[in-house]
Amino acid sequence: MTVHFIGAGPGAADLITVRGRSLVERCPVCLYAGSIVPPEILAWCPPDARLVDTAPLDLDAITAEFVRAHELGQDVARLHSGDLSIWSALGEQIRRLDALGIPYTITPGVPAFAAAAAALGRELTVPEVGQSVVLTRTSGRASAMPDTERLAAFAQTKATLAIHLSIHVIEQVVEELLPSYGGDCPAAVVWRASWPDERVLKGTLATIAAMVRAEKLERTALILVGRTLEAKDFRDSALYSTDYDRRFRPSAREGSR
Ligand SMILES: C[S@@+](CC[C@H](N)C(=O)[O-])C[C@H]1O[C@@H](n2cnc3c(N)ncnc32)[C@H](O)[C@@H]1O
Repeated sequence: MTVHFIGAGPGAADLITVRGRSLVERCPVCLYAGSIVPPEILAWCPPDARLVDTAPLDLDAITAEFVRAHELGQDVARLHSGDLSIWSALGEQIRRLDALGIPYTITPGVPAFAAAAAALGRELTVPEVGQSVVLTRTSGRASAMPDTERLAAFAQTKATLAIHLSIHVIEQVVEELLPSYGGDCPAAVVWRASWPDERVLKGTLATIAAMVRAEKLERTALILVGRTLEAKDFRDSALYSTDYDRRFRPSAREGSR
């Protein structure tokens, strides 16, 4: 018996990995994180599978589900939105499983920030404009931010920011970023990236908060900020340059030989 943690992706059912889908199809138990896992994915569970929405459960109750399945010798598909490496509560669940001696695997998924970048039609790293992406959030009821990870501190790097769990405090986000990025810095909000009702707002730090309020966007949204979002006159990357000898393309300059 094994618990399989699976990143279900950002919303569109076909953005789960092939491995994730086949695990869902064969596990007799499926624990899923409420409305953020699309119903199409749950439809792939075996017809007689035990489906448990973990949204109203606490960690003890979720652990009890793992123990129950372990005692019955039933594999579990444990679905979380996006990828498991960020804000998935994976850490506390595997700590319980380690203590109980219950085996588990981890199958990554497409994170929301990648789906948001796709919705914007942008690469988030652009030569000489921005080479770092900071995945962050603001303090919430459940988790305070470590003091060294304040938005204003990240802002000093001028990296591209992908700010999670913060759409409800967008005015505060803008206020913290303005001194470093300036009001003309491109900013975007992607709401429910990859879902059928996905919405994309493109503006600047000076305009984005009002746009969000006008559209009444709440909850499942990412705020992206940085010059990479609108960069146009950047130089080509070295990756495909004819002057750049790469290990697997030594003939780049000798292509005519
Ligand atoms: C608890 S975190 C989960 C992050 C997830 N593990 C991931 O890999 O993206 C939830 C936050 O991720 C962002 N998010 C998740 N799915 C999203 C989507 N489809 N579109 C936009 N933002 C999304 C929102 O900021 C939301 O508040």
